[in-house]
Amino acid sequence: MYHQPVLLPETIAGLVTNPDGVYVDVTYGGGGHSREILNNLSPKGRLLGFDQDKDAAKNALQDPRFQFVLSNFKHLKKFLQFYKAYPVDGILADLGVSSHQFDEPKRGFSYRFDELLDMRMDTGKGITAAEIVNTYPAQKLAKLLFALGEVQNAHKIAARIEKTRQLNPIQTTGQLTEIVTPLLPKGKENKLLSQIFQALRIEVNAEIEALQSLLEQSVEALNAGGRIAIISYHSLEDRLVKNLLKTGNTEGKLHKDFYGNPLTPFKRISKKAIIPTDEEIEQNPRARSAKLRIAEKMI
Ligand SMILES: C[S@@+](CC[C@H](N)C(=O)[O-])C[C@H]1O[C@@H](n2cnc3c(N)ncnc32)[C@H](O)[C@@H]1O
Repeated sequence: MYHQPVLLPETIAGLVTNPDGVYVDVTYGGGGHSREILNNLSPKGRLLGFDQDKDAAKNALQDPRFQFVLSNFKHLKKFLQFYKAYPVDGILADLGVSSHQFDEPKRGFSYRFDELLDMRMDTGKGITAAEIVNTYPAQKLAKLLFALGEVQNAHKIAARIEKTRQLNPIQTTGQLTEIVTPLLPKGKENKLLSQIFQALRIEVNAEIEALQSLLEQSVEALNAGGRIAIISYHSLEDRLVKNLLKTGNTEGKLHKDFYGNPLTPFKRISKKAIIPTDEEIEQNPRARSAKLRIAEKMI
């Protein structure tokens, strides 16, 4: 299976409020959420599905109401306008990588295989994880390991990487794993390796910058009464989403009207994030860190 959709009924129930409306799933992946959105739309409804990974395009749904867009979602507005689908009634983002990307050894996302350190979702552009580990100064490497992977001994790991690469460039996931494993706390190696690989993946794909851009565009891209649903898996992503829903911007700057009342374009559908049930996590462990936030644009 390409990918098992996370929080599927909760997402669809909160997102689709107008069966005749125009919706966009900006992280199409295996199309699990998209398929269910279409099931809830009338023959008049429309759905656009974005993904920057060519592999996702191979699963594009064959439905006259559906349009696949092979692009980074940071270009949301431009493509919605191009397809005459602007503004929309609902935006869905299910962030991060798909199981297909993670489980395909050649993509270099996982320490479970020994392959070239690539990690690009869009294999046609940008820098690879190998370029990052071989060229970033130790200080910059340490910063990203700490900020994006919450890796505690990031400085030691970065220093070891810098020292080792002077002898031989680090080209594969296996080489990187071998270099850093002796520095990881015993019994927690897998957890730490996941954090290190996650940090590199987020940097390679500039995921935080893309999310910021998507969220900022979403305010204008939604019709009044339209909904936004974001599933995040990382505290940095969730912070941006929370800020947007509270204030209408990702910095979390609250603007007030003349009388001091907070001005925000969104009404949150549930105060707290929606998280998977124990049953869902048991059945799909990759759902465990998911947080779904849904809001409605008011004006
Ligand atoms: C968690 S998966 C989505 C799975 C999907 N909801 C499903 O049910 O199959 C995330 C997908 O979003 C894509 N993606 C991540 N960041 C992206 C971005 N900035 N622009 C476009 N696609 C992105 C990835 O390539 C991946 O296929």
